[in-house]
Amino acid sequence: MAEKEVVETSEAQIAVHWQEEKYIYPSTEFIAQANMTDKTIFDRFSLDNFPNCFKEYADMLTWYEYWHTTLDTSDAPCFKWFVGGKINASYNCVDRHLKEYKNKAAIHFVPEPENEKIEHITYQELYARVNEMAALLRDFAGLKRGDRVTLHLPMTAELPITMLACARLGVIHSQVFGGFSGKACADRIVDSGSRVLITIDAYYRGGALLDHKEKADEAVAAAEKDGQKVDKVLVWQRYPGKYSAKTPVKDGRDYFVNDLLKGYYGARVEPERMDAADPLFLMYTSGTTGKPKGCQHSTGGYLAYTAGTSKYVQDIHPTDVYWCMADIGWITGHSYIVYGPLAIAASSVVYEGIPNYPDPGRPWRIAQELDVNIFHTAPTAIRALRKIGPDEPKKYNYHFKHMTTVGEPIEPEVWKWYYEVVGKGEAAIVDTWWQTETGGFLCSTLPALAPMKPGSAGPGVPGIHPIVYDDEGNVVEPGTGKAGNICIQNPWPGAFQTIWGDRDRYVRQYYERYCKNPDSKDWRDWPYMTGDAAVVAADGYVRILGRIDDVINVSGHRLGTKEIESAALVVEEVAEAAVVPVAHEIKGREPDLYVSLKPGYQASAEIEKKVMDAIVSEIGKIAKPRHVWIVPDMPKTRSGKIMRRVLGALSNKQPEGDVTTLANPEIVEQIKEMVTKA
Ligand code: PRX
Repeated sequence: MAEKEVVETSEAQIAVHWQEEKYIYPSTEFIAQANMTDKTIFDRFSLDNFPNCFKEYADMLTWYEYWHTTLDTSDAPCFKWFVGGKINASYNCVDRHLKEYKNKAAIHFVPEPENEKIEHITYQELYARVNEMAALLRDFAGLKRGDRVTLHLPMTAELPITMLACARLGVIHSQVFGGFSGKACADRIVDSGSRVLITIDAYYRGGALLDHKEKADEAVAAAEKDGQKVDKVLVWQRYPGKYSAKTPVKDGRDYFVNDLLKGYYGARVEPERMDAADPLFLMYTSGTTGKPKGCQHSTGGYLAYTAGTSKYVQDIHPTDVYWCMADIGWITGHSYIVYGPLAIAASSVVYEGIPNYPDPGRPWRIAQELDVNIFHTAPTAIRALRKIGPDEPKKYNYHFKHMTTVGEPIEPEVWKWYYEVVGKGEAAIVDTWWQTETGGFLCSTLPALAPMKPGSAGPGVPGIHPIVYDDEGNVVEPGTGKAGNICIQNPWPGAFQTIWGDRDRYVRQYYERYCKNPDSKDWRDWPYMTGDAAVVAADGYVRILGRIDDVINVSGHRLGTKEIESAALVVEEVAEAAVVPVAHEIKGREPDLYVSLKPGYQASAEIEKKVMDAIVSEIGKIAKPRHVWIVPDMPKTRSGKIMRRVLGALSNKQPEGDVTTLANPEIVEQIKEMVTKA
């Protein structure tokens, strides 16, 4: 029998299972103003009414042509939504709001330096800037419908403007998180086949103006080595008219967007009429192999789903000031800073910097200044702000009606601080569980309809029907207290369509394991496997335990252990590498890295540093391990497999279990001593 793929140390194994079952109810004041107070929404979105229920979300959008088929399953599990429909995302997020909201802020851009002025971009201004950029992309860069373009931009207003300009033309954008290295950017340029890279010269982070352009040079060089030529690098300037990077500008390749735009002032570009199933963007994420995968998101389905969930789960009204403190370089920012909120005419805040710069009062000052009333962030930020500025929120005069948490499980204690101190006991909290692949929320309480339970995401949102399977494929019933692999029974419009260029991997990774019949064209046979372990309470509330695969969730960001291991193996001296997740007070999880060296090399601080540097340059700072442990040998099975389970236990100071069957049990004691002493 083939050896079963098992992950020896998963996040789920080191998860703490909180027993908090008390309900906390949203205030009547919140309920009175909520977008969704009608309980029948769950009947309307029941499996009996699937898939037509999602018409309700699609009808929030403006279509050039209405669709004829709600869900096409003929190419299962690559599902197509709203087939026959023609739509443009840029039109829906910008143009159609002009009639009513022309002079309302679409984006509030908050620079990190506090002495720089906040930019309030109205829908009118956004319309002009998106059109001008679209004209530039079309006429100068020669981009057209279906082309891919890589963006490597930080959190400034130019990022959503560029995304919406691409969407206007039907150009598929692939935004790479600004903190990723040039090499990581290159891998995504190559995979997506982009010949244009859009970047910025510099941006602020933690008080420093970082040279970002140098990453573009690295990216272009590395992409070219891998066979993908980038012929144009479009460089926004953090300060228009001034070049803020040290890296030289390459003639005939690098162009300043701000200069070029002068030639397009007043330009207007007719939005492309896209098929609903045409891709809107790619978002790369980590998986079980070393190679990140490009999750391909659709235009019509994705926009309908993010608009619907922004309205009912985020409870955004056009009069609200909504601040999602995530990075647009991740799916949260795409769905819930840009596309969802703008599709429903929200005012969305884009903050350039880190939450605690120059001090942990910063987020609350921004909230006070802009009258933010909906706030959205990740547990890692809440933990950090609670630790370094537990009393800061009280000092500022702001009032949230609603707050979101996303990205990782939130400890009930941290949840309570968020609720009582940040939310001042007034704000409803939604704990939204979802993924890059899912485009939008999977589980959360609907804020005006259901009570909150600290540490639990809540039941499936309307139209999402979770189910938990054990390893044998039996259903784990709610209320049994048993954990299992959480899946979604049905497709939904926000789900990614495939992995860019790799349909087989898409099927294998997300559908194969629990597929009831691989030849079936019936969606019921294709539950979507999320890769998370979960426990479902008797009331249907879902508690996520963490990843069951080779993925680690660091500060709410996904990292593949294989990606980190491959980066370590770039170092000449390294023979083997193994990464395990370790619990961390602020980040939730952190990678811990074990390496063994090739014969003839001695462990040294230099090699440790070389390995750290390699990880930063191959992936980026976020992937930095807690420690690089240079071990004399890895604990191995007799067949030579590295026992990550044992390393994971040692890193987390847990019992290592029975090691007598290992080929080299004595090594475990040596490593234990090393890890405990440090
Ligand atoms: O393990 C789950 C965790 O983050 C993973 C998805 O990461 P990513 O694709 O980067 O998207 C993050 C933002 C949507 C999931 O598989 N996760 C996400 N949200 C939660 C969560 N774990 C617990 N509670 C959440 N609310």
